[in-house]
Amino acid sequence: MKKLNVNYMYLEITRRCTLECAHCMRGNRQNIDMSEEILDNALKDVSHIHELDLGGGEPLLVPQVIESIINKIRTYGIKVDKISFTTNGTVLTPRVVELLRKLQEIAPLNVRLSHDKFHLLELYIKKLTERVDKNNELFTEMLGYNPKDKDFVMDDGIISRIGKAKSLTQEDLDAINKWIKPTYYHLSYGSPNTLDVVKMYDWDKDVVQVCGSVVISATGYLTQMDREYELEDKGPIFGLHIKDKSLLDALIQYENEYRSSLGEEKYQDYREEIDSKFKK
Ligand SMILES: C[S@@+](CC[C@H](N)C(=O)[O-])C[C@H]1O[C@@H](n2cnc3c(N)ncnc32)[C@H](O)[C@@H]1O
Ligand code: SF4
Repeated sequence: MKKLNVNYMYLEITRRCTLECAHCMRGNRQNIDMSEEILDNALKDVSHIHELDLGGGEPLLVPQVIESIINKIRTYGIKVDKISFTTNGTVLTPRVVELLRKLQEIAPLNVRLSHDKFHLLELYIKKLTERVDKNNELFTEMLGYNPKDKDFVMDDGIISRIGKAKSLTQEDLDAINKWIKPTYYHLSYGSPNTLDVVKMYDWDKDVVQVCGSVVISATGYLTQMDREYELEDKGPIFGLHIKDKSLLDALIQYENEYRSSLGEEKYQDYREEIDSKFKK
């Protein structure tokens, strides 16, 4: 039975959220969590994940999904080197703390707490500022570092023009900048910076190596990290899904389709290029 060694896997475990940030790349929140079946299809053929990123929406809103991931990692004996997530910090309940401790038994946690102006504005409007400050103290104690100090998407001040940010203007950003100091934001045009789409090698081996980013949406599509919900299934690899098949089968299908679209000669050149780039 073939297995996958995945360099980076992002699971969009929920589309629910406690906030409605004006810049949100996802668009409007939706009442959708990643199902048990999709989780199982994502993980059952995997033997190793270098970095597992739990995304959303607000990932800490779904402890039952996190628990299910923990159980599957254990059942399938998956080795995980690092577990990451970005959170808005509003829902650090005792149940969530308990699960974070279980995650820490599996791998070190790399937690980023969003504290850009859009979040601060939302927290202020929803009267959640104090709660997040308290939660952040608890996070810091648990993790041994302040999750506000970790890199997160907007440190560079660039708002990608996707999702709700499509309707933001530079004037809106300037107004927010005037009101809440100190970072300056600007809008990026064109497509946002995205990581590599999945690339695979060692097809003939028992363990297939998967580089780039395996990003799986809550509805089971292989997608891109910087994507709004509405566009999850658009693009070269993004029509692919794991609703009724395992990740391994989906990747084999992708590779075979790519192979026939290129033709055998070009495909062999592509394989050589990928192998020489990624194989040690
Ligand atoms: C989509 S959120 C999901 C995690 C969690 N709900 C949170 O906000 O921390 C992940 C990160 O993306 C950032 N983000 C959202 N929309 C963005 C945009 N249009 N451009 C750049 N970063 C964005 C957020 O500020 C947040 O730090
Ligand atoms: S940026 Fe995060 S916290 Fe804000 S609305 Fe989007 S998913 Fe929710």
